[in-house]
Amino acid sequence: MADATAELTALEARALEELKACADESALRAWSSRYLGEKGQLKLAFGRMKEIPPAEKKAFGQEFNRVKTSLESAYEQAVAADKERKLLASLEANPLDVTLPGRPVPAGGLHVATKVMREIYAIFADMGFQVFRSREVEDDETNFELLNMPPHHPARDMWDTFHTTTPGVLLRTHTSPGQIHVMRQFAPNPVRAVLPGMCYRHEAVSTRSEIQFEQVEGLAIGPDVTMADLKGTITAFARRLFGADRQVRIRSSYFPFTEPSIEVDIDWPKDDPNADRLTKGTGWLEIMGAGMVHPTVLKNGGYDPDKVSGFAFGMGPQRITMLKYAIDDIRQFWKNDLRFLGQF
Ligand code: PHE
Repeated sequence: MADATAELTALEARALEELKACADESALRAWSSRYLGEKGQLKLAFGRMKEIPPAEKKAFGQEFNRVKTSLESAYEQAVAADKERKLLASLEANPLDVTLPGRPVPAGGLHVATKVMREIYAIFADMGFQVFRSREVEDDETNFELLNMPPHHPARDMWDTFHTTTPGVLLRTHTSPGQIHVMRQFAPNPVRAVLPGMCYRHEAVSTRSEIQFEQVEGLAIGPDVTMADLKGTITAFARRLFGADRQVRIRSSYFPFTEPSIEVDIDWPKDDPNADRLTKGTGWLEIMGAGMVHPTVLKNGGYDPDKVSGFAFGMGPQRITMLKYAIDDIRQFWKNDLRFLGQF
């Protein structure tokens, strides 16, 4: 064998020996450029082709190709082995068992107040009431005056509120001003709507009173709407929400914007261990104020009180929720305590 060809074989032996000694990726790369690179030893050896007598060129060429393939595949194997080594090392350092069950991602849920609101909408929707959204920041005129409470009317004492720095602009104390907005949008046509939303009152916070709470107002106006319609609607509602055998009791009451005015109680199951506490021993529980819309209010809303009549009611869904789920502190609703919220 000619010298040049023998040298190729020696080059292979040397290269393979060095490859074995490469301990990491950068050593491997250096080896590759040293032997297989553009200016590497293999290329250099190939350059000697011209010195080789024609009779031996073929043998040289064959040996060159064999060595080249041998080094390239040895290099590939070494790179693969290096990767494998690294993977094993990292698995040992950070053991990961992919067969373990995944960690559950805690799913969110609707707030209990939202759930009860939706239940209430659904019941009234079945009776033909649409949901009407109304503003929380009101003017004195709509919150009081148009509801038949002129300035200094003593009934205003029932609804002490938060006033903004803009005179006459306040946080609504009840959803009743929404009645005016509904009427002005729909008059002179008949309408049935429920008006949900947050209300605010300046109150000492206690287990039963918050400075913010939701109300759901109801309003129905049309040619022959009577007190019997009001009673029937409320009874149907109470039985859907609290159970088919609930009895409803109506007491007379007073609100400036309804005439006559009533308050509505439902009987509470006597076998409920909380019955005595909830009903203060009477067996009855107040759930809402209501009445026939006052003619002055109808007029303020754009209706002719000689042609139409209407009923209205207002209830506090937080109170209703407290009854339904035996919640003993109204402050839980807006505290954002997950231990409370997670129970519903
Ligand atoms: N707005 C009254 C309140 O907040 C409730 C009510 C609504 C009464 C509609 C009669 C008619 O106490």
